Amino acid sequence: MTPASGIPPGQPVRVLSGMRPTGRLHLGHYHGVLRNWVRLQHEYEAFYFVADWHALTTHYEESHIIRENIWEMVIDWLAAGVDPHHATLFIQSQVPQHAELFTLLAMITPLPWLERVPSYKDQQTQLKDKDLSTYGFLGYPLLQSADILIYRAGLVPVGEDQVAHVELTREMARRFNYLYGREPGYEDRAKEAITKLGKKTGSLYRRLRTAYLERGDQEALDTARALLEKQRNITIGDKERLFGYLEGGGKIILPEPKVLLTPASKMPGLDGQKMSKSYNNTIALREEPDEIQRKMQTMPTDPARVRRADPGDPEKCPVWPLHQVYSDEETKAWVQQGCRSAAIGCLECKQKVIDAVIAELDPIRRRAAEYASDPTLVKNIIAEGGEHARDVAEETLDDVRQAIGLEYS
Ligand code: TRP
Ligand code: SF4
Repeated sequence: MTPASGIPPGQPVRVLSGMRPTGRLHLGHYHGVLRNWVRLQHEYEAFYFVADWHALTTHYEESHIIRENIWEMVIDWLAAGVDPHHATLFIQSQVPQHAELFTLLAMITPLPWLERVPSYKDQQTQLKDKDLSTYGFLGYPLLQSADILIYRAGLVPVGEDQVAHVELTREMARRFNYLYGREPGYEDRAKEAITKLGKKTGSLYRRLRTAYLERGDQEALDTARALLEKQRNITIGDKERLFGYLEGGGKIILPEPKVLLTPASKMPGLDGQKMSKSYNNTIALREEPDEIQRKMQTMPTDPARVRRADPGDPEKCPVWPLHQVYSDEETKAWVQQGCRSAAIGCLECKQKVIDAVIAELDPIRRRAAEYASDPTLVKNIIAEGGEHARDVAEETLDDVRQAIGLEYS
């Protein structure tokens, strides 16, 4: 994967992601987000944070939920294998630099950019019982942009639902660099070169450049480059100047991050639907073996198998998708064959996946218990992570303040 533009070659690529502390984590989180985080922490310089301010944008009337979930969530991360020696773990509100960058970005954010983010209208419709006509809720994707840009993250692992937010982040970075990244004198020389293109070509160049810089129109960029390529009557120096000016020119203070799409969790829930808190079909990351056994034993199966002797069809049974996650080829063949011929019973069929889930969660539950019994250890991990995060964030913010002209000492 190539780093985002503007990240000096040779510099380790930073990965950044956040999670809202609004509930207990379950197997779906593990198979989706957490295993991905664990893998990425070995490949990149990783920053993972508890997005408590983000939780407030939707849960401001029940802010106690945040406090109740923060530490449990961090324990779940650690138990799942997120390793403080390989990743920086912290709490958003303990790095106030996010808020400062958010404020500065807010000054240059056109309102329509926020209003057109799909989650803005979608969530307002979905969460009807909450009043989300707040300033904070509208601005939440911009806060996310600040979260990402403050670390100059190159890659942002998120699910499909968050892609539009990273897209906004890219546009904000481009706009910031465009407004504050230009070197003195650069602009005048570029403008001078445009006049040498002739009236018609010059104004086309300006239009295409604006379309790219302000709206991220990639086609406009390509067209403008082709246009420049064709020019015969300008010097090579001017040509190069115009190529640079096309992309904002000057310095890149905030590099554009890329999405690292987290594949949607294939983890099926207890009813065959996707595992999700809202479907009430989850197995918690720290579920006790007895409870796992009970929950899975009572899962529905193919309704055609009323009696033990009735044959069934795995495709019509919510247990089958679990075999697809946990069982080897031999076991899967055993299920297919045994179910269709009524050679196996549902209980023995289920027991294979029950054992697999219990075995998978066993080390996680043990590690969680260790961390839970040592709150000081967990708090120290977060304190150290916060310290490091603040240092990195402050470096970016220094450059940002300087670029805008907010350094007075
Ligand atoms: N908005 C994300 C969510 O709801 C959480 C989040 C906040 C995040 N800031 C982020 C994710 C920055 C990635 C990068 O899931
Ligand atoms: Fe489902 Fe297995 Fe029973 Fe078939 S045998 S219906 S796959 S639980």
